[in-house]
Parts: sequence; C-alpha cells; structure tokens
Amino acid sequence: MPHPEFLPIQWKSTYLELLDQRILPGKKEFLKLSTAEETIVAIREMAVRGAPAIAITGIFGLTLGALGKSGEAKPEAIESLLTAVLESRPTAVNLSYAIREARNRVKGITDWGSIQKIWETYGLEMMTEDLAANKALGENGVSLFPKDQQEFHIITHCNTGALATAGHGTALGVIRSLRDAGKKVIVYADETRPFLQGSRLTAFEMMEEGIECYIITDGMSGWLMSHRKIDAVLVGCDRVAANGDTANKIGTYNLGIVAKEHGVPFYVCATKDSFDLNLKTGDEIPIEMRKESEVTQFDFLKDENGKYLFPEGKTSPKGAHALNPSFDVTKAHLIKNFITEFGCFVPSEISLRLKSV
Ligand code: MRU
Repeated sequence: MPHPEFLPIQWKSTYLELLDQRILPGKKEFLKLSTAEETIVAIREMAVRGAPAIAITGIFGLTLGALGKSGEAKPEAIESLLTAVLESRPTAVNLSYAIREARNRVKGITDWGSIQKIWETYGLEMMTEDLAANKALGENGVSLFPKDQQEFHIITHCNTGALATAGHGTALGVIRSLRDAGKKVIVYADETRPFLQGSRLTAFEMMEEGIECYIITDGMSGWLMSHRKIDAVLVGCDRVAANGDTANKIGTYNLGIVAKEHGVPFYVCATKDSFDLNLKTGDEIPIEMRKESEVTQFDFLKDENGKYLFPEGKTSPKGAHALNPSFDVTKAHLIKNFITEFGCFVPSEISLRLKSV
C-alpha cells in the first residue's frame, strides 16, 4: 500500500480527492473534484492514470455527475453522462467495463438520488476488489520465480504500482510481493517517455518502499540485458486481445523484442478487467494519440524564478513535429506468461482461463 499520505484516489462523500500525479514527485497536491466534468478533465490530462485507477475514478466521476442533480433521471441524461466519462481515455478497457456495469446497475431507476448511491457503492466496491485482485496477482507472480534464488533483477516499464491502482499494484505488486516473501529485488525502471511515469512515479514508489531501484532511459534495456543478468521483465497492461496481443504504455513492445532476443522472460500482469475477448488481435485495440507538446517540451525545466530554461520549455526546434502514440501493442509471441489474480498462463490459454472467472 502507498503511504496514507499518497493515496491516489479518496472518495469523500461529496467530492473526490485525487493526488495530482502530473506534479509528483516534486509536489504533493490533491485536486478536489466536485463535478463529472472536472473528473473527466483530470483523467484526460492524466492527473490520475493507470488502467484500474482510471476506471475507479470514472465511476466516482459518474457519482459526482449524479450528485449535482435532483429529481427524475431521464434515460438520455444518464446515457450522456456515461458516454462523456467513457470517452475520457480510450485505450484501457477497464473503463469501458466499469461504465457498462454502471449502466446495468441503474437500469430502470429513475431518480438521481438512488443512482448516485448505486454508483458510489460501486466505486467503493471496485476499490476493495482491485486491491484484493492485486494482492492475489502478486502472490501468483511470486510462484513463477525460483524458490531457491534469493535475489532478482527485474526491468519494469511505466508505473503499475499503488498509484495506478487501488493499492499494491500489478507488476509493481509482484515486486512488492517478492520483497514480502523475503527476496531481494533490484528494479530497473524505464523512465517511460514522454510522461515519465517510470522515473517520476515508479522510482518514487520504490524509494518509499526501500526497494533498490535504478532509473534507465527507455533505450537502455538492450545494454542492460547484455551486461547484467536480468531475471524478468514485468509490465502491466491496458487491454489484452483474445490472441494475447497486449496494449501497454508506449515502449513496452520494444522491451518485449529486446527481452525475447536475450531470452529474458517477459511477463504481463493483468487483472480480469484487462482482457477484451471481443477483439481478435491487437490490431483492433484503439490507441490514444496525445499532444505533440508532451514530446517536444519539458515543462518542468525551469529556473528558480519559474522561467523556462529552454524557450517555452522546448527541447526541440520551434515548429518541429512529433508523434505521440500513448500505447503500443506487444505481440503475443513475445509474452511468456500472463500473471493474473486467477493464475498464471500462456497467451494461447486466455479464452479457456477467462471462462472460469
Ligand atoms: O498513460 P498511463 O500512465 O495511464 O499508462 C499506464 C500504463 O500503461 C500501465 O502499464 C497500465 O495502465 C497498467 S496499470 C496497473
């Protein structure tokens, strides 16, 4: 669990408190959100991020939307609220499952007061369930590592920890569980350009936990695997297609290829809400494109007077264009195992294993 001061999502009955992950680790500030619109902006602008955290926040966003209304709830008004929240970020499937469930739970209910209570209860339930799923996933992940080995060197990408979930985390959850099982874990955190979830958030979580962690730039994994024995790559995911192709933060695919080349096991940590069996392959996964400025400038490179060290914070020529796909798809053949709360399995077993949950 994160230190209580760093809980990313806190529901306060009449408003939602979100730890603003855009400014961590430099500043610890909480956003107080009291409308659905503010919540949608917080998700889109990545004040909160990580597939499970986005889904939980989305449901509290709906709750806030209902809280601001009284009297009769017209079906069109409910639907437009559900759609607005659903469209805040497209790639992680968790949010669409949560919205679907939120819609089902209020079918036939016609007053905003009851709807608000139902969605609030659902949001709180999601938090409890996500935490339990992360812990079970962590335990299952530990079983893949040799019992007689005491020290493990692990590369991870993006942030999949307590900040991205209701606590514990998925890939970082396995790392926490290994540590809890008495193992020494050395983590190499890809910095994860351009939003720097690895260097800002993963390194921060690891330092809080006292787990040894080295930040590497996204292009260093090949060097690292050629020079040190790496025991595993552990990553999270945003959407897994039926054939096992997996969307995760941009750069994950490269890491998968490098791991395959070096014979390093590549594990994807996923809860059941990450799987989208409606999609046959990863080609069908919608990939979010974000603003060019996330790539072309570093807003935080300012001097002590708040003046940009580079004009307008840019680290590229004025007028230069950039591409900024936020996710990529790692082909199933690069993945050794999925690690989930309901067990570990190879990509070809997805459909079978999902039937039993
Ligand atoms: O853009 P982000 O920061 O929301 O991307 C997050 C990731 O890609 C994570 O790996 C994924 O959501 C899993 S978090 C448990």
